[in-house]
Amino acid sequence: MNADCEAVRQAAMEEIDALEDLRALEESRVRFLGRKGRIAALMRLLGETSPEDRPALGKAINEVKEALTSALEARKQELEARDLAARAAAEAVDLSLPGRRPRQGHMHVINQVIDDIVGIFVELGFQVAAGPDVETEYYNFDSLNTPSDHPARDSHDTFFVKPGVVLRTHTSPVQMRVMERTQPPVAIVVPGRTYRVDNDASHSPMFYQIEGLLVDHGVTFADLKGTLALFVRRFFGPDTKARFRPHFFPFTEPSAEMDISCSVCRGAGCRVCKHSGWLEILGCGMVHPNVFGYAGYDYETYTGYAFGMGVDRIAMLRHAISSISFLYENDVRFLEQF
Ligand code: PHE
Repeated sequence: MNADCEAVRQAAMEEIDALEDLRALEESRVRFLGRKGRIAALMRLLGETSPEDRPALGKAINEVKEALTSALEARKQELEARDLAARAAAEAVDLSLPGRRPRQGHMHVINQVIDDIVGIFVELGFQVAAGPDVETEYYNFDSLNTPSDHPARDSHDTFFVKPGVVLRTHTSPVQMRVMERTQPPVAIVVPGRTYRVDNDASHSPMFYQIEGLLVDHGVTFADLKGTLALFVRRFFGPDTKARFRPHFFPFTEPSAEMDISCSVCRGAGCRVCKHSGWLEILGCGMVHPNVFGYAGYDYETYTGYAFGMGVDRIAMLRHAISSISFLYENDVRFLEQF
């Protein structure tokens, strides 16, 4: 065995054993197996060797070359496995840690109240109807027996979109839209947005109403009172009392406003009910014959009642909310209480 070969093998094996990373390994490979490496240098010795000794030297060089190649390959695999293990350890996810829950939203308090109110009437057989927020003056006023010179228009501080077109000031126009396309019996509730030029602690320029309309043979004011009294007990609790005060609306006759016994002080008197013990929550009445005229209903054949309630006010009463603006500011600290 050639001493030069043995020296190269020794040096290489020691170096390979000590290799700590793949870049150093590649450098070693070039140093020993490369074109100008030490194996190549041994090859050049062949030329200076006598023909008798040449085969033995050639064989010895080949053996060293093979030994180095496989030693490098083995070390390479070790280093790669070590790198992989280190990376896996660094990127490991601790699956036993408790997760972070994504914050879940929920229905807005206004929508909760609408769902509860509408649900009560749906159980009684009412259907849910809807109409446009941008409404014609005809549906918002004229067809509801409120001509343009009618003083009742003043109390609706109306947003005009253009002449003849308004943001609806109440949900009552949907009464007319439904009656125009339906023959009695009609029993609907209409939750929706309404708009008035108004902005203080109890008024928002956009607010919600729920309209109710029932038309059939022989409907009386007693039906109206009975239905609304039942609604009040279901929604506000069985001890809640309702009272009706005479009022005026152009589209109902007779008309009334309904109060409920104060849900905060139970009628004893407090700031919320301004020490009266009562809270006004809706307007109502028997559908005016002129309105039936616009709808194409025969007012000799049919009678009906209608009501319209303020959702915001009811939500505020239910949850003792002091300002309507809380409902529309979208402050999560407020909203997550419901
Ligand atoms: N539309 C009336 C209002 O907004 C309420 C109402 C509806 C009154 C239906 C009577 C009948 O004030």
